[in-house]
Amino acid sequence: MAMERERWDSRSAFIFAAIGSAIGLGNLWRFPYLAYRYGGGAFLIPYIISVFVLGIPWLFLEMSAGHMSRTGAPGSFKMVSKKLEWAGWFQVFVSFILNTYYVIIVGWALCYMIFSIYLPWGVGEESVYGVESFFFNDFLGVTEGPGVAGGFSIPIVVATILAWVLIYFIISRGVKRIGKVSTYFVILAWISLIIFTIRGLTLPGAVDIGLNSYLTPDFSAIADAEVWFGAFSQVAFSLSLGMGIMYAYASYLPDKSDINNNLMITALADMGTAFFAGFAIFSSAGFLAYSMGIDISEITMSGIALTFVTIPTSISMMPTVPQIFGVIFFVSLFMLGVTSAYSITEAFVTSIVDKFKVSRRKATALVCAISTAIGVFVFARGFGIHWLDMVDRGVSYYGVLIGGLISCIIFGWIYGSDRLREHTNRISEITFGRWVDVAAKFIAPAAIIFVITWGLFVTGDVFGYGGYDLWASTLGMWGSLLVAFVLSIIFASRGEV
Ligand code: PHE
Repeated sequence: MAMERERWDSRSAFIFAAIGSAIGLGNLWRFPYLAYRYGGGAFLIPYIISVFVLGIPWLFLEMSAGHMSRTGAPGSFKMVSKKLEWAGWFQVFVSFILNTYYVIIVGWALCYMIFSIYLPWGVGEESVYGVESFFFNDFLGVTEGPGVAGGFSIPIVVATILAWVLIYFIISRGVKRIGKVSTYFVILAWISLIIFTIRGLTLPGAVDIGLNSYLTPDFSAIADAEVWFGAFSQVAFSLSLGMGIMYAYASYLPDKSDINNNLMITALADMGTAFFAGFAIFSSAGFLAYSMGIDISEITMSGIALTFVTIPTSISMMPTVPQIFGVIFFVSLFMLGVTSAYSITEAFVTSIVDKFKVSRRKATALVCAISTAIGVFVFARGFGIHWLDMVDRGVSYYGVLIGGLISCIIFGWIYGSDRLREHTNRISEITFGRWVDVAAKFIAPAAIIFVITWGLFVTGDVFGYGGYDLWASTLGMWGSLLVAFVLSIIFASRGEV
């Protein structure tokens, strides 16, 4: 007798889980930086357009397919044809690999929550150089290149294990618990972000320097192809697309659910959070520029260093109780990160449970244990950040995009996005018109192909990535994708047990 499929407790539980997956490190550190770099306030225009022509149609394909097939990504592709199951596994393995380092960064946030209490890098002026050297030398123990392993960082190892244990407890009990935890975590993350931003905005330099450089529009940017490349790739990553997640989450919805509405809410909440996070980041950065008497362009505004160097430095310069605001910022980062991380694990667990009929607890324990081992072994030591950078380029950029292109072809063309649309329109309050088919079949794939080509040839990834040796970047970037591909073929070809 087939077991009744689990269900979310309520509609809002599902929405919070989906939002929790979407909002993550990408909103807090990547979006503000892209906006700053690509035309300030004017970046919002390409970004909003990308959400509508790429993000929403793609999210629609994933959620409606998951809801129709009532399984995760592999089962959803299998619904189209038995031969296509691998495509779902490919997405699941790509995100599995991504998670091995994503949780490491969540672990860093956990460590920084504690460091913020006693500010080991110094306060005020002395923190300016202290924070950077603390992060790279004392905390990460970075080695000179990907060929030199270096030692393990004990705080990172411990924090990563703790984060994985937490993930295990959240998802081993099924989607009801995921829904509850997501609701609390997302709200807590929002509240912390709001408090942090309000504090930030009251500091000198926050508005006139920080927000000014975040929001002053440069409309000529819109004509620049690179800006569109930034917007498209950010939308895909930020909405957790191409990762097998939204199929899994939607598969636990009841028969009648307002999918169209739910996915619009998810997309808009994600966009709103990204935009708001810009205020948090830029008010801090503006204050830092003001306190140091330098131009904001001289401050590191991108990537890992933005979150773990620039922001902590700015916090240490705050006149009163910087500790509190440090903790608040990293609590928010941690919450945002964990809800994304367990959504990835859930994508894998759902797929395994659906296919191999093992118990959820066993599947979760196995996935968490293997991910912890890989993460600690590769990313928690001196060369970790180098490999993180290269593997990230492979999976979070090419992996996601390739997965998305395959989805557009298989669900948009072969299965027919109009069939999916009929399905969701029947059960949704708002109905989607033909524009979704046009976007899913033509615009989204064209945008994806454009972004892939851009990365390969304009950024020059075919010749190696990020100034690393060719062997290393090839191994990190393409090797990780190859592993995902091979595993997906193996998993798809195993018969039902
Ligand atoms: N959407 C998350 C973020 O913006 C990242 C993520 C990507 C999460 C893929 C899950 C899957 O940080």
